[in-house]
Parts: sequence; C-alpha cells; structure tokens
Amino acid sequence: MDAPNTRILPYNKYNIAEAAALIAAGKCVAVPTETVYGLAADATNGAAVAGIYAAKGRPSFNPLIVHVLDLDAAKRLAAFDARAEALAAAFWPGPLTLVLPLKPSSGIASLVTAGLETIAIRVPAHRAMRALLEACGKPLAAPSANASGTISPTRVEHVAHSLDGRIPLILDDGPTRQGIESTIVREVFGMTRVLRHGPITGAQVLAALSDGKHKVDRFDTGEDAEGKIEAPGQLSSHYAPRKPLRIDARAPADSEWMIGFGDVPGDDTLSESGDLTEAATRLFDLLHRADASDKPEIAVARIPEDGIGEAINDRLRRAAFIGD
Ligand code: TXA
Ligand code: MG
Repeated sequence: MDAPNTRILPYNKYNIAEAAALIAAGKCVAVPTETVYGLAADATNGAAVAGIYAAKGRPSFNPLIVHVLDLDAAKRLAAFDARAEALAAAFWPGPLTLVLPLKPSSGIASLVTAGLETIAIRVPAHRAMRALLEACGKPLAAPSANASGTISPTRVEHVAHSLDGRIPLILDDGPTRQGIESTIVREVFGMTRVLRHGPITGAQVLAALSDGKHKVDRFDTGEDAEGKIEAPGQLSSHYAPRKPLRIDARAPADSEWMIGFGDVPGDDTLSESGDLTEAATRLFDLLHRADASDKPEIAVARIPEDGIGEAINDRLRRAAFIGD
C-alpha cells in the first residue's frame, strides 16, 4: 500500500530528534519497545492522546499504558507501596506494567487513564523507546501500534500495513525481541493481581515478592483452575459515573446535570464548536464533574457517530447502561 505521508526512518539520534519534535507538536509516532511496536504520544496532552485513538480507529476508550524512563519518573505519577517498589526493582526496565493509584498531581490526561483513579505504568528496556523518552522529557502513552482489531505489531512492516497514511512517522529498529505485550500487574490496597499475562510469568512476580519482606497472602494470578485468565485488564478497567445517565438528550430535566455538545448547551459542554477530538479529551473530566454536581442524574447531548465519536458513544452507552 502506498501512503505518501507516513515516513519510515531508522533508529538514530537525528530521527529520534525528529520523532520528539513531532510528539512535542501533539502528533503520534510509532516506536519499537522490547515487546511490540507502540504508538506513542505525549501523555499529558489530551488532544495528542485522542490522536492515538483516531489513528488506531479504536471504537472505545481503554486506558493506555504510560511509559517513563525510570522509577523516579514513575513515582511522580503514581503511589508506590513496598510491594510495587519490589516489583519495579526486580523487573524494570522490562516488560512489566504496574497498575497503581494515580497521583492527583500527575498531569496525565484523563483520556489516558479513561477517568480511572489508577494508572498503568512501565519502564521500557528498548533503546529506541528510551531515547525517545529522553528526547521528549514527557511520559509517553503508547498502546500497540496497530489498527484496532488486528494483531500487535512486532515488525515495522506490520505497523506500516496497519497504520500507513494515518501517522507521520514510524521509527524502525528491527523486529522486537519479546513479541507479546507486557505482563500487567495491579497493585492496589496491598493486593497484587496479574491482569494480563506476558513475558514475565505470574510465578516470577510471586517469587520477586517472596523475599521474606513482603506479605504474599494477597496475590492472585487471575487464573481459574484451567489456567485461563479471569479478569483481563480490558474488562476490569472502566470508569462509570455513579449516577443514572441519559444519552441523546436535547435538553435537561430539572433533576439532570446537562453535558452539552455543539449547539446543544449544558452545565458543561464537551465542545462548543462541535469538535469531536476536543470532546474526547474532555469526556472523563466532565463525567467526574457531573458525578460530583448537586444534580442526581446526568443527561448528555447527542454525539455524532463519526471517527472518534464512535468511541465517545461507546463509553456513554456503557455509562448509560450501568447507571440505569
Ligand atoms: O507491551 C506493552 O505493554 C505494549 C507496548 C507498546 O508497551 N503496550 C500495550 O498497551 O500493550 P495497550 O494500551 O495496548 O494495553 C493496555 C492494557 C489494556 O488491556 C488496558 O485495559 C490495561 O492495559 N490498563 C491500562 N490502564 C489500566 C488501569 N488503570 N487498570 C486496569 N487495566 C489497565
Ligand atoms: Mg493492544
């Protein structure tokens, strides 16, 4: 497939600088990690993160993994307990992602965490991703660099096949070493749980916690008796408002906090100009505000089903269903 506006450049310092400039301008860039190629954007820039979803054509918002250079940078974003520190010491840099309580001061765009109070973080080992993190000086959100519904890319050709013409740059540094996505471990309230299996096994995670210093009675591999994972991150990671929510509203009832869009006004608006990217970046913040408002119910204006509007509607429909 011919796509004039996606460049594929080899890993070197000039091209890392080029990639960092694109990311500073709010674009996304595909870059290899030791697991799979990631589609990276500035995690503190909501519009840039919306660009990841748009490029992937992802019809829903899953929270994304944030990549940082080291444990100190991770600690600026999330609260680490002793067990999380032990896991970081054992496996970082490397293919382990930790889900930890998000610090309110993190500066991470709410679209990255999909409105959750937790954040998934990892410190990658790959030289290209590390050089990019260093050049950007920002945490980078990066899901796998493939179109939604296709398999994760381990070679630059996979990325090009899937995202050609949708992103400005792919950094090429050969095939990835691990070939499957990082292991995800959730560490919240002293309970450790494997949410996604990956290159680091549950047994290795448990062993790292079994040095005599940590209580390991609260460990869960997430597997049932047949070894199938019970709760992949995808299923257990959705923020939903606590209040009933009505979609496609034209005007609010007295009991409703109205979230407007375009020419439908509200107490808040997703985007006065009807811009879907802006709406995506504001969605989770406005749902939190609606939850915290003095009205017992929430109404949301109709959102067009184009482009990233599909993902916004998916999330609103789920919220409406749960709220009922
Ligand atoms: O190896 C990897 O992890 C690759 C490379 C590029 O680093 N990245 C990757 O990211 O696989 P992504 O965004 O495709 O996977 C994110 C997973 C999803 O299953 C999501 O539900 C889960 O992480 N996740 C993210 N934040 C979460 C949270 N706060 N709680 C639970 N699960 C979370
Ligand atoms: Mg993926």
